[in-house]
Amino acid sequence: MKEIGIALLGLGNVGLGTYRILADHARDIERRLGAKVRVRHILVRDGGRSRPEDVPASLITRDIGTILNDPEVSIVVEVMGGLAPAKEYLERSIASGRNVVTANKALLNAHGEQLFSQALSRGVDLHFEGAVCGGIPIIRTLREALASDRVSSIHGIVNGTTNFILSAMADEGATYEDALAQAQKLGFAEADPTMDVGGMDAAQKLCLLASLAFAARVSPEQVHVEGITSLRPVDITLGREAGYVLKLLATARRLSEGLDVRVHPAFIPQASPLADVRGAFNAVLLQSAALGASLFSGLGAGSLPTGSAVVSDIIDICRNLLAGVSGRLPMLCSPYLQDVSLIPSTQR
Ligand code: HSE
Repeated sequence: MKEIGIALLGLGNVGLGTYRILADHARDIERRLGAKVRVRHILVRDGGRSRPEDVPASLITRDIGTILNDPEVSIVVEVMGGLAPAKEYLERSIASGRNVVTANKALLNAHGEQLFSQALSRGVDLHFEGAVCGGIPIIRTLREALASDRVSSIHGIVNGTTNFILSAMADEGATYEDALAQAQKLGFAEADPTMDVGGMDAAQKLCLLASLAFAARVSPEQVHVEGITSLRPVDITLGREAGYVLKLLATARRLSEGLDVRVHPAFIPQASPLADVRGAFNAVLLQSAALGASLFSGLGAGSLPTGSAVVSDIIDICRNLLAGVSGRLPMLCSPYLQDVSLIPSTQR
């Protein structure tokens, strides 16, 4: 049976989830593809977590050169996070003709256009389902299923950590500090949790969603961002008494004056499908011309949910490789992305 070699860059929560899904679902993946996916290398950094028992020592390397010099590696999967050295490693992988997968929303927001352009001109694919909303196939939905439609708005709960904190405070009377510590322990929070609680993680995800939905350049600096750090338990209680649930809401709307894109705490009516999204669950409510309202929800953070999104990208690229095609999906760069005006936050 044909084998497709891959390399993982990183063995943190998402890297380990990716490895375990590839190992545990190997037979199903083989049947679906008619080919084997073989992890040939896992790059780890000094000082990283100690190697779990189910990961063979023979796969571990600290040298990107080992991966790039192995002609059997067709797909490089970046799950290490951060900007450096992830950016350099992805650039070198693309330059060497490898297809790439990343779950790194910060990197895509900071340098995505350059990476997508490089992939486009090199004729390889760059997939990023794991970068937004963990296991919910929302990137695939916007890139493929709704390619036929015209999206007018996105309303989402796109950060698992803050949703976990707000749910624990509302449903269990937990304190903000205890709920955050628990979210960190469960592996939902970013290495720097201020990205989560300050709203920037949600803004980065929203920008990727809005860029795809509206074929527009949207970057986090253009977005009004307000996190949950100044909320008090009384805000939650008073909201509930009035029939509302307090959530960190990410919104992007196409208006006649331009795009309105923002992240901030919002009181959501209890009857809204978003009000019922609890814990580390995420949900995205889309409004589009042909389909009307559609709701996508599921676990938005965590090792296996995010790993499953990463593996879905690997499988997609394997299908392309087996069919001898690439570039089936839009890259977030010219000519797909256009400049559009964003409504300044002062006018919202
Ligand atoms: N820190 C992120 C969250 C992880 O809490 O949603 C998934 O992107």
